[in-house]
Formats: sequence, C-alpha cells, structure tokens
Amino acid sequence: MTSSDRTFVVTGGTSGLGYECARNLALDPSNTVVITGRDAMRTRELAATIGARGMALDLSSRPSVSAFVAELVAADLPPLSGLVCNAGVQFTRRTLTVDGMEATFATNHLGHLGLVNDLLDHLTAPARIIMVSSRTHDPEQFTGMPHPLTATARELAYPPPPTESAQRDARRRYTTSKLANVQTAYQLARELAPRDITVNAFDPGLMPGTGLARDANAVQRLAWRTIARALVVLPGVRTPRGSGADLAWLVAAPDREGITGQYLVGRRPVRSSVASSDEPVQHALYRDSLELLAELDARAES
Ligand SMILES: NC(=O)c1ccc[n+]([C@@H]2O[C@H](COP(=O)([O-])OP(=O)(O)OC[C@H]3O[C@@H](n4cnc5c(N)ncnc54)[C@H](OP(=O)(O)O)[C@@H]3O)[C@@H](O)[C@H]2O)c1
Repeated sequence: MTSSDRTFVVTGGTSGLGYECARNLALDPSNTVVITGRDAMRTRELAATIGARGMALDLSSRPSVSAFVAELVAADLPPLSGLVCNAGVQFTRRTLTVDGMEATFATNHLGHLGLVNDLLDHLTAPARIIMVSSRTHDPEQFTGMPHPLTATARELAYPPPPTESAQRDARRRYTTSKLANVQTAYQLARELAPRDITVNAFDPGLMPGTGLARDANAVQRLAWRTIARALVVLPGVRTPRGSGADLAWLVAAPDREGITGQYLVGRRPVRSSVASSDEPVQHALYRDSLELLAELDARAES
C-alpha cells in the first residue's frame, strides 16, 4: 500500500450510474473500489468485470447494512476516502419493507443515512460523501413527476394508504426521497465539517435505459430502454457513462477538495429546490430519521 492508496464505496454499483461511476474510479490503480448490490455473488461477478470488489448490501434492511459495514471493516482495505450513496429504487405501487416501512423512503433515504452513520468512524479525513439525488425533487424543474410531500420523517416512513393512483403515489414517494437526499446532504455537510468530511448532492440528469424502471410494466420498460434512449440529444438527458464520469470526478478529483454543501447538476453547482434549503426542516428530518433508525436497531436486537 502507498500513501496515495484510497478506498471508495459505491452503493448500487451493479447497474446504471453506480456501475459507471465505479468503473471510472477503478481506472486509477491507487483506488480500491467496493461496489454493493443485494445479491452477493452477482455483485462480486460484476465487480470483477471492472477490477472492483463486490459486497452484499440491502439498504432497506438494517441488519444487512450492519453486515456490510462489518464485512468492509474486516476486509482491511486502504483508507476509506469516499462514499457514493447512489443506490436507488422507484416503485410503481406502494411497497413496504420487512419492517413495514414505505420502501422508497426506507431505501433511498433512511438506508443511506444509517450507512453514513455506521461508516463515520471508518472514514479517513479528508473524506467525501455524495448523495445522488434527482431534479425531480424540485417542482420548479417541471419534470412531469409528482411534487414531493411535506411531511415528518415518521409520516413518510409509515404513511397512510394512498389517496391517489398507486403509480402516482409511488412516484411521489420517489421524488420525496430524492428531496430527502438533498436535505440530508446539506444537514450532514454542517454536521461533518468539523471532521473534514465534505457532503454534496448530485443530480445525474435523466438517464434512460438504466435499471430504475425495473418495477414498471413491460411496455413502460421497453419504452425506457428504447424510445427514451433516443432522447439523449435533448438538454438534461444524459448517459450513465457520462454522468458516471461526473460522479467519479465529484468524489475523487483533487479540485473538489474541501468543497461541501453543494448541489450539482453534472459538474455544475446550482441552486436546489426552495423546500430543500429550509434549515430547520433539514434538521428535523435528520433528527427524526435518526430516531427511526434507533427504533429499527432496537427491534433487530430484541
Ligand atoms: N435513471 C435516471 O434517469 C435517474 C435520474 C436521476 C437520478 N437517478 C438516481 O441515480 C441513482 C442510480 O439510479 P440508476 O438509474 O443507475 O438505477 P439502476 O440502474 O436501477 O441502479 C440502481 C442500483 O441500486 C441498487 N439497489 C436497488 N435496490 C437496492 C436496495 N434495496 N439496497 C441496496 N441497493 C439497491 C441496485 O442493485 P441490485 O439490484 O444489484 O441490488 C442497482 O445497482 C438512483 O439514486 C436514482 O434515483 C437516476
């Protein structure tokens, strides 16, 4: 090991944006790259194709997050310098975790916050955390997606039955989780500044053809894979390859050293939604989410 050797963890590195980000990071021989996916063997096989390591992680399960952290620490890798919170799910109907939590919120937001917390003492400063969000968190971007909800973390984790179509409700849960990713990035940026850990949020743009539509029906999936790919000439539409390179730059490039609390579209810092910038709301989401995580941990131990 040399002094420049570093480890990067990319959640959801088996597909789409995460795979491309990890592939870019692994091009530098001084980087050890760990990708995660829910299926251990499949993740290891995919990791091997890019010279990375693969480990199992299901963000919707606290025991799985704990097992992943234990495996990572036991692997005794070079200093952990970067964590890319990239994994994400979007459902087409109300979906619950084994703990009875709304699964989009539990996976995209709560799972990543729990992972960050569990890895904090294993990050070696100066370190970076990136939260992958989406412009769909911002109603002013007119993405055609339902506006995010304004609700407490507990209400988002344990919502009442849908009052709109199942598909629209599920999409709203997605944009809400992506808003939570931005809010959490800002809150963590303040929390972790004294530890020399930077936290930024990233919008990769619309990337047709990734696995994000895996829960959609056959016609929608075909459209996502074929017609939508042709849209790549339009502004705001990107490829996983292009956005993956941007994401790798964000977590590893020397020119990003010490920059924290930004929301970037590709490599450009921009203003995120009005709702995302409310500090008391960011703090309340963080505080209540930690409480929910503590409850899950207590349940897992009992
Ligand atoms: N595609 C777009 O247009 C778009 C636009 C804006 C933002 N984004 C964001 O970009 C990120 C990556 O999305 P993508 O389009 O690349 O999607 P993708 O191809 O579906 O990749 C998602 C990744 O998440 C992992 N994953 C799914 N459920 C998980 C769980 N419960 N626990 C842990 N990992 C899980 C998947 O791995 P396994 O299935 O192997 O577990 C996969 O590697 C997401 O955060 C998404 O919100 C995407």
